[in-house]
Amino acid sequence: MCGIVGVVADPEVINNVTSMLIQGLKRLEYRGYDSAGFALVECSTGKLLVFKDRGRIDDVVKAYGISRYCSISGIAHTRWATHGEPSQANAHPHVDCRDEIAVVHNGIIRNFLELRRLLEEKGHRLRSETDTEVIAHLLEEYLKTSESMWDAFRKLVKVIDGAYAIAVLYAREPHRIYFARRVSPLIIGLGEGFNMVSSDIPSMLQYTRRFVALNDGEYGYIEPYHLYIEKNGSHVEWRHRIITATWSIEDAEKGGYPHYMLKEIMEQPRVLFETYTGLVSSREVEEAAKLIAEAGSVFVTGAGTSFHAGLVFAYYMSRIAGKPVIPFISSEYAVFKNIDHTGSVLIAISQSGETIDTLQALRGFRASGGRVVAVSNVVGSTIPRESDIAVYTRAGPEIGVAATKTFLTQVLTLSMIALATALYSGSLTKSEYREATERLKDAGRAASTGINRSIRQVELLASSLRNKTNIYVLGRGLGVPLSYEAALKIKEVSYLHAEAYPAGESKHGPIALVEKDFPVVFVATPPEAELLEKIQSNVMEMKSRGASTILVGTSSYLELEGVDFAIDVGSFDEILAPYALVPPLQLLAYRLAVVLGRDPDKPRNLAKTVTVE
Ligand code: F6R
Repeated sequence: MCGIVGVVADPEVINNVTSMLIQGLKRLEYRGYDSAGFALVECSTGKLLVFKDRGRIDDVVKAYGISRYCSISGIAHTRWATHGEPSQANAHPHVDCRDEIAVVHNGIIRNFLELRRLLEEKGHRLRSETDTEVIAHLLEEYLKTSESMWDAFRKLVKVIDGAYAIAVLYAREPHRIYFARRVSPLIIGLGEGFNMVSSDIPSMLQYTRRFVALNDGEYGYIEPYHLYIEKNGSHVEWRHRIITATWSIEDAEKGGYPHYMLKEIMEQPRVLFETYTGLVSSREVEEAAKLIAEAGSVFVTGAGTSFHAGLVFAYYMSRIAGKPVIPFISSEYAVFKNIDHTGSVLIAISQSGETIDTLQALRGFRASGGRVVAVSNVVGSTIPRESDIAVYTRAGPEIGVAATKTFLTQVLTLSMIALATALYSGSLTKSEYREATERLKDAGRAASTGINRSIRQVELLASSLRNKTNIYVLGRGLGVPLSYEAALKIKEVSYLHAEAYPAGESKHGPIALVEKDFPVVFVATPPEAELLEKIQSNVMEMKSRGASTILVGTSSYLELEGVDFAIDVGSFDEILAPYALVPPLQLLAYRLAVVLGRDPDKPRNLAKTVTVE
């Protein structure tokens, strides 16, 4: 996820747009903050000026003295790296060979490798590793055979494939900014004597309250007094679509949600789709699968939530790829430290890419001959940098301290790796593999279903649990790691004591605590044919001790007897069930925190990135 903003103004009304760009961009920093950049058409010379670098917006603004420059139009970008590590060369804006066309982009250009090859054959020298840079060069190329930049831009949108929000500034037309939107969000801000384009409304609220949200496939341009939109070559009437915002900047920054944690839970349908789009036919997934399939032993590690994603991976690897995986908590690497890991592979999972325990495990593993595949959400962070292969999730920055959207994007990424390994090792045929991978495209939809079917019930459940001091969360099979994750989330943000166990293990000790009204949550997952009867016995064991039994499960579990409160997330198979089941559990933790008056975004004693052992 990145953020883009652009402004074009009548110099009689606003004589310099630079500060609007800086302020607007700062409000987009939540979308990414590893690099930032600006393109301006300088008032006095009419030249395109580009300033960009690794670092946060304030640092880049200061380092290049951007506020000093005068411009009547400009575009800017804050980056969360997906293609190419954070660096000056990879920061946006990207420009053509003649430094006249500047582009900022949020999203993924899926066919960029093919386009890059074509451009290089025509003599273009690209300076970054990004997918975005092809846009500037394609426009330069099309301009050679087009009557105008507008014609070239229309050709461009027919050729690029993927998810994108784009803004383009052309030095010879400083009174105009071109834009296009597919999947990634893009909004037009309508001003008096100026117009803006941006990834979201809050970044423009300081300047205007009138907006037009672009629909998928729309493109066009803004001028100080004019907005033109087209779709598939036809003019689009937009005046009836103007929205007038009534909310405050603070409300809007969290997308209208009271907390980042809730916003991030609700974002899961979109980021799952974006992660899927970025990974399908990814070279890194293929390479990781090959390494894992050929490995003698396979280990998986992580801390907290990332470890739970590792447990889901171990489950899928054994069920789908027929290959056992040894999971261990990163801080316990010492158990394996005297083993020669030559020929073995470790999957190191860390959303931040900086957790010291995971980093130490990775270093120890490599030092003893093993190879490492990292799964992270932060491009260029230490863990992926020190690994043999890095596969990235595309959750965008997670502001809430408790991991939510990064967990499910890790699960999705690891599922893709498990499926590719199964294909590589012959456990799945090509068509079985294609069919399973295709199903994962619906991970986001499954998350939506889980959210929609549970949102009201979770509120009731949270109020009924608010006075409890202990909660058990039990599952079997795939339900075990999901239960661990649910209990961790409840503990972290509500401070209630929640403990997870494999349901079968509960009678080997934990059941001693169960008395009248003790809440026990069952996370019931497919395959129902194998698990239903066993979970039924566990429910009855608890019920007969007076427990208050709660079910969060796929539809077949509605048959269970002895359940006091049930959340049915719908019918999903083993591949899709986590995406439907996890959001209701995250929502339960969130609601508990809210009813108990805790701040779910900043739980006490916790930090987002843990860099001490
Ligand atoms: C849980 C949580 C932590 C992290 C853990 C690992 O909500 O946020 O348990 O999962 O500290 O962090 P990463 O994934 O950054 O290595």
